[in-house]
Amino acid sequence: MNVIASPIAAPVLKDKGLEIVLSDGESHYFNYYWLRDNCPASFNAETRERSFDIFHLDTPPRAAHAEVTQSALEITWQNEAHVTHFPLSWLEDFRAAKHRHDPSDLPRQAWYSDHYPDVPRFSQPQLVSDPAERTRWIEAMLTEGFTIVTDMPDSDAGLTETARLLGQVRPTFFGDYFDVKTHINPTNTAYTAAALELHTDVPAETPAPGIQFLHCRANTVEGGGSLYADGVAVANDFRARDPEGFKLLSEVDIPFYCEHDSYDMRARQTVIELDRHGEVSGLTISQHMADIFDLPQDLLDDYYPAFCRFGRMLQEEKYMMQFVMKAGECMVFDNHRIVHGRAAYSATSGDRYLRGCYTDREEMRSTYRALVSEGRFKA
Ligand SMILES: [Fe+2]
Repeated sequence: MNVIASPIAAPVLKDKGLEIVLSDGESHYFNYYWLRDNCPASFNAETRERSFDIFHLDTPPRAAHAEVTQSALEITWQNEAHVTHFPLSWLEDFRAAKHRHDPSDLPRQAWYSDHYPDVPRFSQPQLVSDPAERTRWIEAMLTEGFTIVTDMPDSDAGLTETARLLGQVRPTFFGDYFDVKTHINPTNTAYTAAALELHTDVPAETPAPGIQFLHCRANTVEGGGSLYADGVAVANDFRARDPEGFKLLSEVDIPFYCEHDSYDMRARQTVIELDRHGEVSGLTISQHMADIFDLPQDLLDDYYPAFCRFGRMLQEEKYMMQFVMKAGECMVFDNHRIVHGRAAYSATSGDRYLRGCYTDREEMRSTYRALVSEGRFKA
């Protein structure tokens, strides 16, 4: 018996676009500018960039004729010697105007004070040699925000090599790298032996650096234990416990600064950062770099108590992971999510030397996407 396929409805040409029936049996509208700009021939497969320039069309794009042939929409354009073929399956992906799928948009997993034995650990030589291990490392960074790289080479080059696995070393206004040890003329509390309260780094820059690397080269002092807490865990609990405070800390930006003889960096940041889904994605907090809050004084009646409630909550035992870093380890963490600090130490009891640098958050996501897919130009 011959099966006669049902006739495919012809596209309906409108003034600014066309309507076409897709696999759901519904008619869907597509704009002519969008169709012309995204013609498959508009892209150069070698550079993977758009090579078509819609700004130089003499007249607004408009279809002279359109028909469906062999699972493709064929458009003959007015005022141009050009024909476009769109696979119908490709149009299906855009009919609902959803944001493009992002494989790096992974759900975050909150962690608490007992997390240290379960911190994802990765061996540096294996990360260098194995792309699959790098993929697992970035997945851990995206979901948990804190990892430890072990077996680090005892060299400056070893830190650079490790950071470059996620992206370029991202300078700040104090340079490409920083050395945390006691300085004779300290410009920062980190460069003393004093306790360092929980904070995120460089809040006076917009954006603050994304991923922090702290390579422990020596740690034989008495004291100096590391403190880390997951800002996502604390802020999500704060949202449930104190919705009004959460609203203030996620909506009102406050000034941060870093000033000395030759620099005067300033930025405004909200203490709690939300992503495009409205989920907590991080924190910016630093007692020693918070500038004088230049907010209306009656707003401060509410803001300051909320700020203090949150600051005290950050220090609750439930959230505080405490451990001693060992030489040969590198802490790698999301500087917008993980707050860090340290206990005071005795500067004369031994050596303590950390060397650090930063890379960007978005570049880490880019590296991840490239590891797990070939993007639009996937074969
Ligand atoms: Fe720091």
